[in-house]
Amino acid sequence: MNPCSIFNSLLVLHLSVSSFCVIHATLDQNYAQKILSAAQEDKNWLVSIRRQIHENPELKFQEHNTSALLRKELDRLGISYSYPIAKTGIVAYIGTGAGPVVALRADMDALPMQELVDWEHKSKIDGKMHGCGHDAHTTMLLGAAKLLSQRKEKLQGTVRLIFQPAEEGGYGAADMIKEGALGEAEAIFGMHVDFETSTGSIETIAGPHLAAVSFFEAKIVGEGGHAAGPHDTVDPTLAASFAILALQQIISRETDPLQSQVLSVTYVRGGTASNVIPDYVEFGGTLRSLTTEGLYQLMKRLKEVIEGQAAVHRCTAYVDMKIEEFPPIPAVVNDENLNLHVNRVAKLVLGPENVKVGKKVMASEDFAFYQELIPGIMISIGIRNVEVGSVHSPHSPYFFLDEGVLPVGAALHTALAEMYLNEHQHSAIQ
Ligand code: NI
Repeated sequence: MNPCSIFNSLLVLHLSVSSFCVIHATLDQNYAQKILSAAQEDKNWLVSIRRQIHENPELKFQEHNTSALLRKELDRLGISYSYPIAKTGIVAYIGTGAGPVVALRADMDALPMQELVDWEHKSKIDGKMHGCGHDAHTTMLLGAAKLLSQRKEKLQGTVRLIFQPAEEGGYGAADMIKEGALGEAEAIFGMHVDFETSTGSIETIAGPHLAAVSFFEAKIVGEGGHAAGPHDTVDPTLAASFAILALQQIISRETDPLQSQVLSVTYVRGGTASNVIPDYVEFGGTLRSLTTEGLYQLMKRLKEVIEGQAAVHRCTAYVDMKIEEFPPIPAVVNDENLNLHVNRVAKLVLGPENVKVGKKVMASEDFAFYQELIPGIMISIGIRNVEVGSVHSPHSPYFFLDEGVLPVGAALHTALAEMYLNEHQHSAIQ
């Protein structure tokens, strides 16, 4: 073969591959725009659902009315689901019923706090508020359910839509998993509203995103007595003081400065009179680390340091990591390939200028439990809009949502799942 014909065939091959890519990119672009405009058409419905949930907030594992509302809408849309899972949870299914299977997750619970925003659809229940945007998460996932069901003939696999209870301190994700919510899912996407990112934008990051968290309580026991005769007592106040100071050395002296960890003592209780040395002093707090292993190391050292300091001061320490009541939550570590997928899909749906690199935050999310089993990614979806006043952090009584996020989230969930299935047809062969 002469060199010229090799060149010619390479040229033809190159041209056909690149024109295929152009066609493919245009198809994806058209698809993304179609999904977004379909979601925008549903905006009034989404807003009304979200307002119903917002006006009737329910705390962890009590999301009965929220769950009933979702089931009513799923029934109306002709979408099948399993219920109850973890008391109030729902898993809806859309697609072929076969692999590949991908999961989308939303949390449904509200917070025990008073809403201080005065607006037409504020919480009707004193002391309860959707102060973390879970009403929006739930609504966006229901919006995705509608869009996906309209496209069910085109889906090349199955989407599981997980509506979970009790994200706020209830470990709802762990219960959902125990009761089979993940099924055969091979990847999972979750979203959390973000008041620092503008509506219409998202932030996404690979690797550590949110912290692993645990809590502790310590009791240092000495021997109380008259404050005028400390030599006749074993003073637990002094021992606790040394222990608390020593705890602050663990991160500064033992942790890689490039690794993020937090150890906060948040309360101290001991004694009732100014002339009596008490028998014991109690204190407690929280530990955080951007890696789960880092958290376990911190927990180990915390116990050793408190016990050691107590012993130096002739006291006895009892350290309770509260494993039963508050099991440690792993870190939210986002999968790298899924982060590439989110970047690609979100740029198509929202435009490249609206997709930014996410932040690391020392808060926690029980989404981490899903990620312990399958690759997952938690995305921050923007709700910041100065005009409507959605500029307050979650868990603030002034937290406010820009409802413009609802169709954006519904479209993004839909496109993330559908395009994931298109790109993972290998899993269908297994
Ligand atoms: Ni939240």
